[in-house]
Order: sequence, then structure tokens, then C-alpha cells
Amino acid sequence: MKLKFLLSMLSAAVVVSTSAFAQSPIVIKFSHVVANDTPKGKAALRFKELAEKATNGRVKIEVYPNSTLYKDKEEMEALQLGAVQMLAPSLAKFGPLGVKEFELFDLPYIFPGRDVLDDVTQGAIGKELFKKLEPKGITGLAYWDNGFKVMSANKPLHLPADFKGLKMRIQSSKVLDAQMRILGANPQVLAFSEVYQALQTGVVDGTENPPSNLYTQKMYEVQKYVAMSNHGYLGYAVIVNKKFWDGLPADIRSELDGAMKETTRYANTIAQQENDSAMEAIRKSGKTVVYNLTDQEKTEWRKALLPVQKQMENRIGKDLITAVNQESAKLGYK
Ligand code: LMR
Repeated sequence: MKLKFLLSMLSAAVVVSTSAFAQSPIVIKFSHVVANDTPKGKAALRFKELAEKATNGRVKIEVYPNSTLYKDKEEMEALQLGAVQMLAPSLAKFGPLGVKEFELFDLPYIFPGRDVLDDVTQGAIGKELFKKLEPKGITGLAYWDNGFKVMSANKPLHLPADFKGLKMRIQSSKVLDAQMRILGANPQVLAFSEVYQALQTGVVDGTENPPSNLYTQKMYEVQKYVAMSNHGYLGYAVIVNKKFWDGLPADIRSELDGAMKETTRYANTIAQQENDSAMEAIRKSGKTVVYNLTDQEKTEWRKALLPVQKQMENRIGKDLITAVNQESAKLGYK
């Protein structure tokens, strides 16, 4: 299966790379794994609209949502082979590529507020991280927000001890693996497209998601309890195949850059609202019990999860973690 899949991608890549700019319009395949009506899904469609307009139709963006073209892991391989030109993977999915520093974004409680997150993604740290993608044949274009994650399972999750022995789905991130283990749970990496069925059949007991994903994948229908923990962050890096991007005519690249900047503003504006609307719909559905942690319980969660930052210093880099915490202090967070 793997060989057949790789051969099919190689042949697609050869076709694309030899004739990438001979064809008119230039086609950019943009693959992602979430539903259209999510922050990332809406942003991808907005980019299509703005990019085709900005290039007067010289570029056509083909958006393939919800793992319809490639699912997790496959999509990164497809990008490096040039079988697709653009992705927006979760920042938790760059470890397998060998760029483990992106797992900085997975550290529990690393961002006490969105202002810290914005300073990181729009400042020197964000740029430094993108530089690490270049040797992998990838160019980072933008960071898109999705927001903070809630936990869900088929038992109430009020305190860290409630996770003991639970099989919890995670993205492919060693930080998230450590996060679940420190809670006494058993982490299981699964592709996003496989999570609903794994929850429905009991392959895993629970997971973590921003509300927009919990809602649009209908996971809330197979999770009896949701804890409004906001314990960690989930965002995206919009990335392109470097060879393709560098090979574009300069005027087209500049027009696409402009469309991406405008789309990023849009993406980061809608994320919170999309997640709030998703939580409202989940509450209204009556299909799951949504629990707001008490202040005392929040203190217990932080106490249990903060040591993951220390645990992961060698993997992510102590300097990088310190730099983010200094950013927080600069903005007045304790
Ligand atoms: C996940 O796998 O849970 C997320 O990365 C999905 C997404 O792209 O938001």
C-alpha cells in the first residue's frame, strides 16, 4: 500500500513539477484535514478567493478539505514531493518532520493570553521557527489561530486524577504524549480523520480539541463529558513546497503574499468567535455535559501539567521556552 501510495504521489509530483508554470492558470492544491466551517476551513476558502482575484485568475487554488485528498502525515509527505503545493497543518504535527521546536506551541499553559501568542507568531520567534523548515524543502508563510483546547471523555474530568488509565487521542507530538502521561492517561496518536470512529468504537476514551473541531467532527456526540480546561493551544502554520514557491514568477509570488497577509488577518479574527459558536451549539445539543472547572480545580490542573515545560526543555530548547516566558513577563503576566 505504502509503495503504491508513494508511486502515485511521485507521478503526480513529476507532472506538477515539469509543467507547473507551463499550464495556465498555475494550480495550487491546498489540502487540509478539517471541515470547511472551521477557522482553518474558512480561511483556506478566503485565501482561494483573494489569491485568484489578486492574480487576475493566473493562479487557481484547489482546496481539498476534511482529509479528502490526504490525511495527517500523508499530507506532509505529499507537500515535500510536490504532489500538493500548500498545507496548514497543526503546529503539533512538525515533530515527525524533524522540526520538534514547533511543539513549543503544545506546552500546557505556555500562552497565558493571546497577546503573548501574537508576539510569538508575529515576531522573531515565529520567524526563527519558519527558518527551520527551509532545509526540509518547506517555506512557512503564516500562522493561523484556532484557539485553546478543551478535554473530552466518557467520564467526568474535573481533576487530573480523573484521567488515570484513560486512552486519550493526541496529535503526533511528544509534548502532548508527555502531557497525557503526566496525567496518568495513555496517549494514542491517531490521524484526525480517524478520531470520531475511534471514540465511537471505544478504541480511545477521550481527546482534546478546540471547540470548533469537537463540534464540526461531531465528536461531542460520542463524548459524554467536556471539561472547559483551555489547558493548551492549537494553531497552524501555512506552508508551501519551497521549490514550487521559489519558482513562481516574482509578481505572482508577491500577489499571493498579499492575499495571504489579508487572509491571516481574517483567520485570526474569526477563530475565537467560531470556537464560541461551536461551544454554544454543543451546549444546546444536550448531547454532552459541559463542565466549567472551579478555580481550585484549575489550580490543580496547572500544578499537574506545568512540569511538562521542564520535562520538554531538552526537546524544544530551554532558550525557546525561556524566551516565550520572558515575552509573557514583558506583557505583565506573572
Ligand atoms: C488534530 O489533529 O486534532 C488537529 O490538528 C486538526 C486540525 O488541523 O485542526
